Amino acid sequence: MSNVKPFLRALRGETITPPPCWFMRQAGRYLPEYREIRSTAENFLDFCFTPALAAEATRQPLRRYAFDAAILFSDILVIPHGLGQHVAFKQGEGPVLDALETAQDIAKLDVSMVKGRLAPVMETLREISSGLDEHTALIGFAGAPFTVALYMIEGRSGTEGTKIRQWAAERPNEFAVLMDVLCTATSAYLIEQVYHGAEALQLFDSWAGLLPESQFRKWVIEPNRRIVEAVHAVYPDVPIIGFPRNAGILYRDFVRDTGVQGVSIDATVPLDWAATELLPLCTVQGNLDNHLLLSGGIVMENEVRAILSALGNGPFVFNLGHGILPSTPPDHVGRVVDIIRGVV
Ligand code: CP3
Repeated sequence: MSNVKPFLRALRGETITPPPCWFMRQAGRYLPEYREIRSTAENFLDFCFTPALAAEATRQPLRRYAFDAAILFSDILVIPHGLGQHVAFKQGEGPVLDALETAQDIAKLDVSMVKGRLAPVMETLREISSGLDEHTALIGFAGAPFTVALYMIEGRSGTEGTKIRQWAAERPNEFAVLMDVLCTATSAYLIEQVYHGAEALQLFDSWAGLLPESQFRKWVIEPNRRIVEAVHAVYPDVPIIGFPRNAGILYRDFVRDTGVQGVSIDATVPLDWAATELLPLCTVQGNLDNHLLLSGGIVMENEVRAILSALGNGPFVFNLGHGILPSTPPDHVGRVVDIIRGVV
């Protein structure tokens, strides 16, 4: 039954015309209806952990654009919260965490708490899944270990990742313990998501591009590979999309060595390179620049058409190179979707 959904067919290697599409951060502040329900909860994590609100936020963009996939409304930082680290979202500042500084801080993380603390997410998935039409697929997700560890160690966004890069290089054995904890917790969390209705999974490694090749292999490819292996040991058929953002030509080895079924590419990846090097290996997802989406107009439209003509003849899912920016006019999103579907 789920096999008929175009998004899942694309992830199984079929070329679908027009290609299925969804957008990273398709739910969120650029939508007035999101801002309205968001204002009913003070704290962003409370919002994420209220199944009725999170399920409604998930559905809002589907009503406007009939995307081919819904993505669970949550955040990658629920895992540190689940492990017992203090996580808060401050207005205008983004996430703020009690930064890990020592091996003892890592030792205090408690994998056994994750399942209980993240139970509301599973309720959200059940609720979305039970109301979804037969065309739309449900995507579950998690942050990949390096990206989640970056927030856990830096304590906030907007850094250059200096602390995490030093810790990984100078005390690699300690850092490996943290990566093990995250691999274990994330694998169990994703398996649970599939059990509760997720039909495909995406692993967000948004900060992968900070690392040189040797470190990329150790802290990006290897943890993603372990999670793919653990999820597939339980659910061999669930497709997994990797997103090692800004990986450059290392996207190719990432796909080969992790075993993902799809790869989401950022907007800097040249289209002809993606067509010759990635399309033969797996389904490609991407890669409209989120700033061109913000600007709209003919420059955006030409870019959409260039992406469709370069990648549309392989197994492809149309998406952005990174999430929708909060100031994006919703009309621009509608225009892109119309072009993809051949309406204009
Ligand atoms: O894509 C979707 O529609 C699903 C929901 C989703 C959110 N975050 C909701 C959110 C997903 C998939 C994420 C992933 C996420 N979260 C990533 C990986 C993708 C990426 O963007 O690189 C990262 C790095 C985070 C961490 C995070 N969460 C940051 C840095 C921030 C603050 C910046 C911001 O945009 O506000 C968040 C908060 C957040 N996550 C919001 C939303 C809608 C905004 C909070 C609000 O509405 O008050």
